[in-house]
Amino acid sequence: MNISGKTQLAGVTGWPVAHSLSPRLHNYWLDLYGIDGVFVPLPVAPEHFVQSLRILARVGFRGVNVTVPHKEGALAAVDTLDDVARRIGAINTIVFGDDASLHGTNTDAFGFATNLTTAVPDFDAGHGAAVIIGAGGAARAAAVALRDLGANDIRIVNRTLRRAESLAMALGAGVHVMDWAGRGAALKDAGIVVNTTTQGMTGHPALDLDLSALPGDGVVYDIVYNPLETPLLAAARGRGHRVVDGLGMLLHQAVAGFAAWFGVTPEVTPALRAHVLKTDG
Ligand code: ATR
Repeated sequence: MNISGKTQLAGVTGWPVAHSLSPRLHNYWLDLYGIDGVFVPLPVAPEHFVQSLRILARVGFRGVNVTVPHKEGALAAVDTLDDVARRIGAINTIVFGDDASLHGTNTDAFGFATNLTTAVPDFDAGHGAAVIIGAGGAARAAAVALRDLGANDIRIVNRTLRRAESLAMALGAGVHVMDWAGRGAALKDAGIVVNTTTQGMTGHPALDLDLSALPGDGVVYDIVYNPLETPLLAAARGRGHRVVDGLGMLLHQAVAGFAAWFGVTPEVTPALRAHVLKTDG
């Protein structure tokens, strides 16, 4: 790496941030496109988050990705907010202006949708219901993406009913809450089911979901990417469903931020996927 006096700076801010794959993926693109830039991890405690953004914008950073636990807090920290971030209720990308102003957006819904339509090119969101398991930030992004793809029957199923209800309320017409106990039955007539919970992630138990009510052409999408093939996806594959893993969402959500900060629209390729999955640095 050649850092010069003109090196352009961006990073990912989270607490903790060491687990983030964003440095690996953005630095791959910087190298690939021969850009004099660097993308760094920025561990920032919640109480310093707002102040840190102002300082980063003043010391020449072009912008940041925002990850847990700052995504919602960032809403109040930016100077302008676009419509998709407002609808999702969270920010994952901030672009700093030349005057050090902060512009917030959310590219998670784009990442979710692009990953889905790349993996399943003939996916038709209007065919059958879209079932979302979970009601956290990832579920909100998935719901906004599915709605924008044309889903008009969205079913939210979450362990904590109250959170499902508040997500359904925020999304408006055509969104129904279904019981956690009846989650298997919620798959009847569905065109897609999406896991947005932490269940199935390394170190967590598998998502306990009976797929038998899902029609044979139903798609099973797990936004977990660690491991790539969760027990849910393995079970779905075994039943002959088309499956979508979560890594592509991470890769595609990064495109718009990179383009805004570094001026080149990068490509998501199998080589990038392989690079991000490598664990040896
Ligand atoms: P994120 O913003 O990344 O989506 P989150 O807000 O912590 O993360 O949401 C995690 C989701 O996983 C929630 O829907 C959570 O359900 P609750 O709202 O009931 O907490 C879900 N989740 C976590 N552990 C779970 C478990 N053991 N069984 C079922 N759902 C679980």
